[in-house]
Amino acid sequence: MENFWLKLKKPILALAPMCGVTDLPFRTICHNLGADVVYTEMIMVQALSRKGKQVMDLAKISDQERPVVLQLGGNDPELFYKAAKVGAEEIQPDGLDINFGCPAKKVAGHGSGAALLRDLEKSYQIVQAVIEGAGGLPVSLKTRTQIKSSDKAKVHYSWELLDKIKDLPVSAVMVHGRSFEAPWVEEVDYEYIKSMRNHFKGILLANGGINSSEKAKEVLELTNADGLGIGHGVYGCPWIFKQIKEYLKTGKYKDLSWPQRRKIALEHAQLAFEIKGEHGLIELRKQLLWYVKGLPNATDYREKLVRLNNLAEIKKAFMEIEG
Ligand SMILES: Cc1cc2nc3c(=O)[nH]c(=O)nc-3n(C[C@H](O)[C@H](O)[C@H](O)COP(=O)(O)O)c2cc1C
Repeated sequence: MENFWLKLKKPILALAPMCGVTDLPFRTICHNLGADVVYTEMIMVQALSRKGKQVMDLAKISDQERPVVLQLGGNDPELFYKAAKVGAEEIQPDGLDINFGCPAKKVAGHGSGAALLRDLEKSYQIVQAVIEGAGGLPVSLKTRTQIKSSDKAKVHYSWELLDKIKDLPVSAVMVHGRSFEAPWVEEVDYEYIKSMRNHFKGILLANGGINSSEKAKEVLELTNADGLGIGHGVYGCPWIFKQIKEYLKTGKYKDLSWPQRRKIALEHAQLAFEIKGEHGLIELRKQLLWYVKGLPNATDYREKLVRLNNLAEIKKAFMEIEG
């Protein structure tokens, strides 16, 4: 099976996985606007291994967004194996990713996500299990800088995980340069991300705080990474991928006019409706608000946008907005 990671042109610009944000419509929009690879939100292995309708719907992918990576979360190697097999055989993404970074209480509190960094033996078994279940699909990891032990006496660094899995064929690692203990601080430790080069031979993606073309260039220079993972920076701005590419090539980029932004927002709404029906439009409300952020009178628009129920209402409301 072909390893898509090896065919991507560097620097690789990835849409980072985000629960409740990187669903199929949004991933497709980001793909169309220059993302080289898109990640699904984290799918829990307990659910995926049981193949319930809800999780299979959540994990659904489409040919229009490829290459797409399905991210798995959990803490049981056997369930990771089963979920990787279901993922590879039934969801059929281009790659599988393992979440070693989530700090959320309901995830890390149960020994998954970032908490796995405290148990390298189990983490090794999980990576091994996913590789076995993946049936040849490339496997990647996503992690952050560190987590302390439960009694706070010891620091577990993510480079220790990379050293541990050195003999396993892992294609890529996305490193979020913040710790478990300070998950949303302004400052991102790009030096740490750079140091991961000494621990991993595959593709290294830097993640954290990349919200403009200028910042993207700066982070690539600071980390020497093969690419970037972008999270918050895509909120209301899925064209950031195109802009970054233009900036890296020419040193300039064009800002989009309101009519251009509106066109993309409406395409997004159309896709959300086609893929998920009216329910998709309700889910989309928060993203519609992101599209108008920064416009004059944005607060007035926001009040209106949270009440929209169907495609016609969304179109009408957006056409009435002046940039
Ligand atoms: C709403 C939200 C949901 C997220 N969900 C996931 C997830 O499912 N899996 C994961 O590995 N990271 C998740 N993250 C973390 C992001 O992938 C990324 O590492 C983080 O936002 C830092 O990047 P940024 O500064 O570009 O936003 C999430 C972040 C946000 C804001």
